[in-house]
Amino acid sequence: MNAMIIYGGKYRSARCYAEILFEQTGIPYCPYTQWTADASLELIVYIGSLYAGGIPGLRKTFARQIPTQASILIATVGLSDPKEPETVTNITAALKQQLPEDIFQRASFYHLRGAIDHAHLSRSHKVMMSLMYRQLRKKPVEQRSAEDRAFLDTYGKQISFIDPKSLEPLIAHIQTIQEQRGGSTA
Ligand SMILES: Cc1cc2nc3c(=O)[nH]c(=O)nc-3n(C[C@H](O)[C@H](O)[C@H](O)COP(=O)(O)O)c2cc1C
Repeated sequence: MNAMIIYGGKYRSARCYAEILFEQTGIPYCPYTQWTADASLELIVYIGSLYAGGIPGLRKTFARQIPTQASILIATVGLSDPKEPETVTNITAALKQQLPEDIFQRASFYHLRGAIDHAHLSRSHKVMMSLMYRQLRKKPVEQRSAEDRAFLDTYGKQISFIDPKSLEPLIAHIQTIQEQRGGSTA
């Protein structure tokens, strides 16, 4: 099957999940900056990290001509916990804004947890994080969302929630598509 894993991140989490997915499925991976559209593609898996709700490369990738026969699976990577329904609702709303309507309707979505190392963030990311931190600290505790709490809990730390097991539902979906279309490797 002609399939591709495309990732969009700023540091290493999205790439790390793309690598694990490659090891588990044999589907090749590349950053969105290197991907060129392929008319015979049957499966696109996009793994993208969350930056204030935005995902690097997502708009650009799906603004291209995506083959109508291609299945589309999109996995987000963030620090907030997707076990919280409110978090998933917010991520879904952000995805809807970044994707063409037909792609949003066709795609299946998965949500993964990533990692952060504050000491190694870029200068602009440190500034953004510190502004968000100061704003959230002012918010009354009872008004803080699950995402707000996740942000405050992880602020300033080096922390990783990367969990290969969290890819299992996505891998099961990929295997179903491979069985339906025939051929178990890329
Ligand atoms: C400036 C900034 C904004 C972020 N915004 C979000 C966010 O909106 N939601 C979230 O869950 N995580 C957010 N994160 C955490 C990243 O999504 C997380 O660290 C992710 O694993 C980074 O992936 P990458 O290493 O592939 O770039 C943010 C991190 C930074 C530095």
